[in-house]
Amino acid sequence: MGVPIIAGNWKMFKTVGEAVNFVSELAGRVAGIEGVEMVVCPPFTALAAVAGQLRDHGSGIALGAQNMYWEDEGAYTGEVAPGMLKEIGCRYVILGHSERRQYFGETDAVVNKKVHAALVHDLIPIVCVGERLEERESGTTEEVVRRQVEGSLAGLTARQAAGLVVAYEPVWAIGTGRTASAADAQQVNRFIRGLLRNMFGEIAAQAVRIQYGGSVKPGNTAELMAQPDIDGALVGGASLEVDSFTGIIKNAL
Ligand code: PGA
Repeated sequence: MGVPIIAGNWKMFKTVGEAVNFVSELAGRVAGIEGVEMVVCPPFTALAAVAGQLRDHGSGIALGAQNMYWEDEGAYTGEVAPGMLKEIGCRYVILGHSERRQYFGETDAVVNKKVHAALVHDLIPIVCVGERLEERESGTTEEVVRRQVEGSLAGLTARQAAGLVVAYEPVWAIGTGRTASAADAQQVNRFIRGLLRNMFGEIAAQAVRIQYGGSVKPGNTAELMAQPDIDGALVGGASLEVDSFTGIIKNAL
């Protein structure tokens, strides 16, 4: 595995003021840490201010958005374009998070359009996939994940695919305190690596960083990161406190 990538998905939490305070404290706490890539994904309203803070601190923490639209511009009230995110300093964008799929009707076809648009604008997509509880219990996890990976990443070149981050997030583990066991997470991450190999070849499949997400905490990070196909974590709740996010980053080393 290369350098692990630990990304904090803040969801709809933190005002601009809270976000700025958070990253200035975080930057101090993680100063000098090498060997792990750190990303924070604040709400849209805080992105520009957080970008400024991260630059001022020379923090080495990258910025990501939680969503975007696929068109360059136009009459799409309430949406945000890829170029707008790029302009204010985003390097990453989370696409197809299960909450987007569940509450906002995002399909694999929609996620696919967004992935293509992000790449055109030189944003690195963090593409989320994962099964719901009833799908796991009925034994369809691999079928669901296959459909999501193949649908969300359709039409990419091997070169484009190689730069991606994919996050395996079983929906039943998100915000529930119920983490997948390291062995279960590894099994699905390895399955995803195999799908990527079929689609894009061995070199690209090895280059893709595949995160695990779902109730990641400082206490379970090391065991998850020790798995051969887990290359990082997408962290929700535990990314909202400096102590726990710093703990996760340190335990990922
Ligand atoms: P959680 O969320 O860490 O709070 O489970 C993960 C996510 O939704 O990305």
